[in-house]
Amino acid sequence: MENRLEVTNLSHAFVTATNEEIRIFRDLCFSVGPSEIVAVVGRSGSGKSTLFNLISGLLNPTSGHISLGPRADGSAGSLAYMLQKDLLLPWRTILENALLGIELHRQVTEADRTKAKAMLARYGLESVANAYPRSLSGGMKQRVALTRTLLTNPTIVLLDEPFSALDYETRLMLENDVITLTKTEGTSVILVTHDIDEAIAMSDRIVVLGGRPARISLQEKIVLTVPGERDAITARGAPEFHRYHSRVWDALRGSDVTHAVS
Ligand SMILES: Nc1ncnc2c1ncn2[C@@H]1O[C@H](COP(=O)(O)OP(=O)(O)OP(=O)(O)O)[C@@H](O)[C@H]1O
Ligand SMILES: [Mg+2]
Repeated sequence: MENRLEVTNLSHAFVTATNEEIRIFRDLCFSVGPSEIVAVVGRSGSGKSTLFNLISGLLNPTSGHISLGPRADGSAGSLAYMLQKDLLLPWRTILENALLGIELHRQVTEADRTKAKAMLARYGLESVANAYPRSLSGGMKQRVALTRTLLTNPTIVLLDEPFSALDYETRLMLENDVITLTKTEGTSVILVTHDIDEAIAMSDRIVVLGGRPARISLQEKIVLTVPGERDAITARGAPEFHRYHSRVWDALRGSDVTHAVS
């Protein structure tokens, strides 16, 4: 398989305590190629986090298949998941939290520590490397969680609203870091975001989830005309930007017509 991820005929339903079935997805199919950034957008409750829980194996689907493709050298691929909540462990320092993802797989080396410190420094967290999460702002904690996710050298990264607690400047910086990561390391990314601008600026493809149970109501390839390499800022100035924005916005609104009040 050439893809990093293939999702085939995925259906999922939760069963409530009263034995009621809540169907979340029906027959979802999509794939993610090497170095690709795919943004998933959809209304609150459309099942985006559930999709990530299924892809990462935290939940078992009712039916369908999810397969993870290999690395470029043929060895097994690996997945890293940054949860919507940062989930830092309060009794570990920031540096220890950042290294946790690696520690779950193998012994932490001095090279890992150096890399973790460099990444924390890049995100303005150098001075708090030995502090505990309780002394950090929401945005800082999110950056620690991102560092932890990226340090494990995954083939595919699942990011669930990773930038929602950040100021605009930091957000653009991290968006660029993720874009760069896909280019330099060949990492693939699935990004859940409520911000249509962010989805267009960052991704190669946008998947819109809509309806209940949710299906893919739009799958749009994003091609932007920018001078030189695309980055988070030049992308936002591309002439195609507004056209994509309208298409995604229409798909988001149109996907929920049955719930409209008037
Ligand atoms: N364990 C569960 N048991 C029953 N229902 C659940 C469970 N987890 C999620 N749901 C329901 O599944 C639906 C999808 O939830 P999910 O958290 O995936 O949405 P989301 O698209 O990530 O929303 P948001 O944008 O607010 O993060 C919601 O209606 C939610 O109430
Ligand atoms: Mg969610």
